[in-house]
Amino acid sequence: MVCLGNICRSPLAEGILRQKIEEKGLSWSVDSAGTSGWHNGELPDSRSIDVARLHSVDITDQRSRKFVVSDFEEFDLIVAMDSSNYSNIIQMAKSEDEKSKVKLLLNFSNPGENQAVPDPYYSGGFEYVYTLIETAIDDMIEYYQ
Ligand code: 4NP
Repeated sequence: MVCLGNICRSPLAEGILRQKIEEKGLSWSVDSAGTSGWHNGELPDSRSIDVARLHSVDITDQRSRKFVVSDFEEFDLIVAMDSSNYSNIIQMAKSEDEKSKVKLLLNFSNPGENQAVPDPYYSGGFEYVYTLIETAIDDMIEYYQ
């Protein structure tokens, strides 16, 4: 799960997916990262921690890290929150196979529409962002299960 800062959106996506993996007994692993590295080592944004907690998801064990090229080998699927994250990741790919692993999260809910999970860092709307992410993750699990 990848966004820009790995403190607002992708930590929510990681936390939500981790909980659903546990609930459904799936043998999937999940991690999150940011394309920027600006917040390396930091906890998720307190507004993400709070909205996750309201939904009984604890994301306080997460720390921000930058997306790295070895993630292409480590993971089968790389899920971007918006098209800017998507193009930044695609630019780092070394093959068509690596490029094909990169998907936009909301395309699992609205195929082909290339919609963004809006960046809530300056504008807020964390509850809305949570709902968008959770619905798309349900659709993603449905797709791959
Ligand atoms: P995120 O949100 O990409 O969802 O983690 C942001 C966090 C930090 C910044 C931008 C977006 N920033 O400009 O520092």
